[in-house]
Amino acid sequence: MDCLEGMRKCLEDKSVDVVVTSPPYNIGIKYNKYNDTIPRNHYLNWIEDVGLEIRRVLKDEGSFFLNMGHKPSDPWVPWEVAFRLKKYFVLQNVIIWVKSIAIQKNDTGNYPSISGDIAVGHFKPINGKRFLNSNYEYIFHFTKSGKVELDRLGIGVPYQDKTNIGRWNSATKDLRCRGDTWFIPYETIRSREKERPHPSTFPPKLPEMCIRLHGLNKVNLVLDPFIGIGNTALACIRLGLDWIGFEIDEYYADITEKRVKEYLLRSVENDR
Ligand SMILES: C[S@@+](CC[C@H](N)C(=O)[O-])C[C@H]1O[C@@H](n2cnc3c(N)ncnc32)[C@H](O)[C@@H]1O
Repeated sequence: MDCLEGMRKCLEDKSVDVVVTSPPYNIGIKYNKYNDTIPRNHYLNWIEDVGLEIRRVLKDEGSFFLNMGHKPSDPWVPWEVAFRLKKYFVLQNVIIWVKSIAIQKNDTGNYPSISGDIAVGHFKPINGKRFLNSNYEYIFHFTKSGKVELDRLGIGVPYQDKTNIGRWNSATKDLRCRGDTWFIPYETIRSREKERPHPSTFPPKLPEMCIRLHGLNKVNLVLDPFIGIGNTALACIRLGLDWIGFEIDEYYADITEKRVKEYLLRSVENDR
């Protein structure tokens, strides 16, 4: 059902620990049913209504991770949305979801594990001479106070230089804060229709990292108001968490249900 209606009907005040979601971006993406080209002001007013409802259902110490993409000719929309939500939330972190990156060996200095130039990840290539291919999206991390404590090492990365362990007071294990650029590639697929039957998804690893950053041990319920084909649901099942999602398009909602069932079945079979 519609997420505003759904949140109002199904969710009590301050009942959700983490919201992870990617709404329509209003950049003309061709969904099965939803029209992604509504007048910008109308769109921003609607997003603001959704934000207010999310504020109602989110716990005071909760986290709201909002993934927003753009198109090269319309780069402002993520920030226009973030600016509207400033009314109701503090922008605690801005994370860049890197989908693809090229690294030249010469630029890396002394990293023995890097043996040559690297170009990894997938992106939608564009034609023309004005714009660069867009290889990233934003993840805005909103909270009510701006003071929510996070589990930074929950998504930490091992030190390259192991002598750092013990050198800093904070470095008691072989993990450091990952920072605010996250490389999360899409899986390689052979058939878009069969394997990714939705034009604008994030990989399940994205919600998984957001939830881990908030702190796994303080999460009971996760909400995705725009659940699409269920990648937040799959992340939650993997993490053993309860989730709730809304989707106006039955075609996508059915795929979510099917993927969740298949995932649960596979886990049961693997446990045998
Ligand atoms: C960017 S996609 C989310 C994709 C999702 N993150 C995934 O990985 O599958 C946005 C989704 O919001 C849905 N949608 C649009 N308006 C909605 C509304 N009012 N309530 C619930 N879902 C809506 C669209 O049908 C679309 O599937």
